[in-house]
Amino acid sequence: MTESTTRRPLVSGNWKMHMNHFEALKLVQELSYQVTRDDVDAVDISVHPPFTDIRTVQTALESDRIPFFLGAQHCHFETSGAFTGEVAPSMLAKLGVVYVIAGHSERRELFGESDEMVNAKVKAIIANGMTPILCVGETLEEREAGDAESKVSGQLKACLAKVKSTEVGSIVIAYEPIWAIGTGKTASVEDAQAMCAFVRQTVAEMFGADAANEVRIQYGGSVKPVNAAELLTQPDIDGALVGGAALEAESFARIVQYRLHDA
Ligand code: PGA
Repeated sequence: MTESTTRRPLVSGNWKMHMNHFEALKLVQELSYQVTRDDVDAVDISVHPPFTDIRTVQTALESDRIPFFLGAQHCHFETSGAFTGEVAPSMLAKLGVVYVIAGHSERRELFGESDEMVNAKVKAIIANGMTPILCVGETLEEREAGDAESKVSGQLKACLAKVKSTEVGSIVIAYEPIWAIGTGKTASVEDAQAMCAFVRQTVAEMFGADAANEVRIQYGGSVKPVNAAELLTQPDIDGALVGGAALEAESFARIVQYRLHDA
């Protein structure tokens, strides 16, 4: 839909439930050796370790001056209270977390997160000065039935309800077709671009052209070094949310370096 040179790409590593804090430290250090100053000048990089690793990774990033943004995979939407096992957004903000994934399809499917909960979470993340990475995407059945756009626009409408137009431009939306996550199947470049353009168009209809032009839209779902360049150079794809390929420093660094490879 729109092409903008002002949107900085964001490549995010979602480590899911992998890596204890020793392994996390090793991975972030290895990654810092592979990523160059030029990479960091061109691309924002975030790492999203499990909660138990966040303090360790924060300390490593600060003490070694590693220019990656600290991320989290989830948080609760309440400020505090009797929510056994949950983590408040303010606790993450205090640890220097910048990006928080909200509404990942695994959280929606396996842990019963509804659009309403994701919406509350998006607002709580913003209220705590952090940036949500809001995940949306369709199942294979929905795609085959021709319902991919209605699923995604419905998720956007529900998950961004009552978020201010002025805030939407600075959030991140990750379009992740569920059938492409962890399966090795990637959406075709044409389909990924078309859906990211559709996300931008929906944001324009809901929040206006400025928000749509500014909002960063990631593609996620089996992004690998071999397909990163063609996906990430599409006009409406502003980065990637990477799962499996983020667990190995060399492959994640090669995705971050997509602009050095042939599309
Ligand atoms: P994947 O995961 O890269 O392993 O497909 C992506 C995600 O779940 O965000």
